[in-house]
Amino acid sequence: MKRTTPVIPAEDIQRQKEYCAELRALNAEKPTPPLAYVDTYGCQQNEADSELLRGMLCDMGYQITGTDQGADVIVINTCAIREHAEQRVFGNVGALVHGKRKNPSQIICLCGCMAQEPHVAERLRQTYRHVDLVFGPQALWRFPEFFRRVYLRRGRVFETDPSDGAIAEGLPVRRSGKLKAWVSIMYGCNNFCSYCIVPYVRGRERSREPDIILNEIRQLVEQGYKDITLLGQNVNSYGRDLEGDMDFPTLLAQAAAIPGEFLLRFMTSHPKDATEKLFDVMASCEKVAPVIHLPFQSGNTRVLTAMNRRYTREQYLEKVRALRERIPSVVLTSDVIVGFPGETIPEFEDTLSLIEEVRFDALFTFIYSPRKGTPAAEMPDPISKEEKSASFDRLVKAQNRISLEKHQAYIGTVQRCLIDGAGEDPRNNLTARTAGNRLVHLTGDPALIGQFADIRITDCSTWALFGELA
Ligand code: SAH
Ligand code: SF4
Ligand code: F3S
Repeated sequence: MKRTTPVIPAEDIQRQKEYCAELRALNAEKPTPPLAYVDTYGCQQNEADSELLRGMLCDMGYQITGTDQGADVIVINTCAIREHAEQRVFGNVGALVHGKRKNPSQIICLCGCMAQEPHVAERLRQTYRHVDLVFGPQALWRFPEFFRRVYLRRGRVFETDPSDGAIAEGLPVRRSGKLKAWVSIMYGCNNFCSYCIVPYVRGRERSREPDIILNEIRQLVEQGYKDITLLGQNVNSYGRDLEGDMDFPTLLAQAAAIPGEFLLRFMTSHPKDATEKLFDVMASCEKVAPVIHLPFQSGNTRVLTAMNRRYTREQYLEKVRALRERIPSVVLTSDVIVGFPGETIPEFEDTLSLIEEVRFDALFTFIYSPRKGTPAAEMPDPISKEEKSASFDRLVKAQNRISLEKHQAYIGTVQRCLIDGAGEDPRNNLTARTAGNRLVHLTGDPALIGQFADIRITDCSTWALFGELA
């Protein structure tokens, strides 16, 4: 059996590199290197994509800057997951018109998930005329080609046709961190949860070849990266389009067998595909961090069915039980949506009771936001905004109490942490992360940044732990 999803031929990637070289030569004639700014919204997948965009911009002779002020090129990598995210993008893109008036040769690009929504592309075309280039995530690898067209012809370019997407390897990357790295193992989503825009804007599920992924991880470890997160919208469906019987637990175990001192994380796991095989690998591989983000979305089976999640409340709880049986101290985080169309108060209370039963370490709570083109956006939604936000407040309050209690249980324990940066508070000049990714504030020698160390936890808040070197 051959792989069932397409791979971009190497010569097509090579052509993009030639466009980069051509632009680099043009930029080299300028008195100082031109500046490029990439602004990222949304999930880690988008962060990872922005590292590729920065890699390509560097190849084109740009220097990366941290602000739009004085930038010759601005790239906005957008997120479409909720209305609020889109409003922020429209507000910020609108404000760029002033800078462009002062510097008409500035090039403004908008990419990412919003670009793939037809009504957004239309709005950009009509009313955001200062945006020069718009392209969706599946066309990311062609950025140099599009950019060159804008650069040389000064015309607007829109590349937003719907696309299932393919795998593009060998793009340059400029990583933001020195200790933590993202590695996309797959792209797209086939799940079509009824509220979610991602499958419409990110194309079909497709997996990178295991050898390429493992090589990338090996190189990162050699370069000194200590904390590596494998990314996919649902990593548990990794490998379904590949030859042989490759699956995510196998890939994870192979990655964990790479020599060196580092931790592996992954996100996100769809509960319907989280298997005991995965939990076994987590339990048996020391380098796989004992933490899992397992979004449950709702604690009520009728709502879960309407969401097209394809598991019941009981099945979710059974997964959690199977996981904790193997790793009793596993750190468990989740996502939940309040106010899905038609969700009644008793149904919402099932969500409350689920969080009391599971006791997540942290929870990302969202109020349902209708997305154009998804089935849920067409469902009747008689519940008022006020009722939804009252439920939301109840949920946040309950989770804050649980998070605090969970953190209190760390006091007096010693945790092996990666010291990952400088803190903002002078009394706690360092930050660290436990294996379960809990934030720890501590005092110590900044030379320790980048090392694993044992930290005794002395205090906590809802959001963080406080400790000292043990
Ligand atoms: N692929 C990941 C989630 C990506 S989106 C997964 O399946 O777990 C991250 C979270 O945003 C989702 O888990 C969900 O809780 C939330 N979300 C997605 N669409 C939403 C919508 N229309 N309104 C509110 N929250 C939404
Ligand atoms: Fe969206 Fe569901 Fe896919 Fe996650 S699994 S990206 S929530 S459709
Ligand atoms: Fe947003 Fe796209 Fe990620 S919609 S959450 S940036 S996949």
